[in-house]
Amino acid sequence: MDDLLITGGAGFIGSHVVRKFIKSGKYNIINLDKLTYAGNLENLRDVENESYYTFVKGDICDIDFLQNLFSAHDFKGVIHLAAESHVDRSITNPMEFIQTNVVGTVNLLNAAKKSWEGKSDRRFYHVSTDEVYGSLGEKGFFLETTPYDPKSPYSASKASSDHFVRAYGNTYGLPYVISNCSNNYGPNHFPEKLIPLMIHNIRNKKPLPVYGKGENIRDWLYVEDHARAIELIFEKGKNKETYNIGGFNEWKNIDLVELLCDIMDEKLGNNQGTSRELITFVKDRAGHDMRYAIDATKIKKELGWEPSLQFKEGLQKTVDWYFDNEEWLNDVTSGDYLKYYDENYKNRQ
Ligand code: NAD
Ligand code: TYD
Repeated sequence: MDDLLITGGAGFIGSHVVRKFIKSGKYNIINLDKLTYAGNLENLRDVENESYYTFVKGDICDIDFLQNLFSAHDFKGVIHLAAESHVDRSITNPMEFIQTNVVGTVNLLNAAKKSWEGKSDRRFYHVSTDEVYGSLGEKGFFLETTPYDPKSPYSASKASSDHFVRAYGNTYGLPYVISNCSNNYGPNHFPEKLIPLMIHNIRNKKPLPVYGKGENIRDWLYVEDHARAIELIFEKGKNKETYNIGGFNEWKNIDLVELLCDIMDEKLGNNQGTSRELITFVKDRAGHDMRYAIDATKIKKELGWEPSLQFKEGLQKTVDWYFDNEEWLNDVTSGDYLKYYDENYKNRQ
């Protein structure tokens, strides 16, 4: 059985990708993760004892560690998700994003390049974001051909790592594929991102901080649909191609928060409208991108992928998951989280 390296597998999307590949039964999965505040082995508790699965704690910024790992395994492929992923944190601490997202990715590329010398049946898959394309006006969609125009330190770091992946393909012939996906939501989402934060705060009757006027638009995709797209692209995508992944599911932040309030009121047995009273408009994010929207025609046409869940169904499933997994929530919201959240909220008053 071939060895497959998945980085960032203890994070939100990575945990769904690891689970999907374990279930396929085709590879011996090595999950490499540093376990930052965003990584949590609880996300994989149900599969941790499966055969052909190993967790390795490590940092993609550690070159010696990577060299040892690539000497110990002849990886058939790398699916690279490890990253710093929160835009707000990138605004307060951009250096960490440059280290992990740019330097860490180039370290991995170097390790793969060295290990794969003379072998063409390999694949380096970089999991990236639609935020590299910048911000849209009222009309139009991001296509695979849209020029890069990143506007936050996070998106600049992801754009940079995408460029390095393509440069290694072009210069050294490294086989690669890239996908750029819209905003994900679903189980295991760390509760500093919009949807899980709102669920957490509604439940605890805390203010719901909506940045600016709440008019910014995001295109939401259920995380398991993303994981399914990643498996498909890894197995069937064309070498050196890029695939955009998205749900054709645009929501203004304020409309989304109101919908969540209504779903939660029903779940909690509140009178409708109760949770909406918690909505608090706060200082906007610096350089806040106005609108993201993916045109996912290419992946549909070439690989037959489509999102499977309607948004309301996906949100309901997500809310149910957070209610059923209180222990997970208590675990990840201890430690650094509360301090970060309180400071972020205070700075926005
Ligand atoms: P996440 O923050 O939940 O998880 C990131 C994981 O990477 C964590 O487990 C963390 O411990 C690990 N990690 C961080 N630094 C590391 C390092 N130096 N070495 C090893 N591991 C490290 O992120 P996510 O939301 O699951 O995103 C995963 C990937 O998908 C990222 O590359 C992100 O840019 C991309 N992406 C995310 C979204 C989204 O909506 N969340 C959308 C499109 C693309
Ligand atoms: P986020 O989940 O951080 O994802 P991204 O910035 O990568 O799109 O934020 C989604 C949207 O929600 C974004 O427009 C910022 C906004 N937002 C709020 O209004 N309040 C919040 O507390 C957070 C975390 C985000």
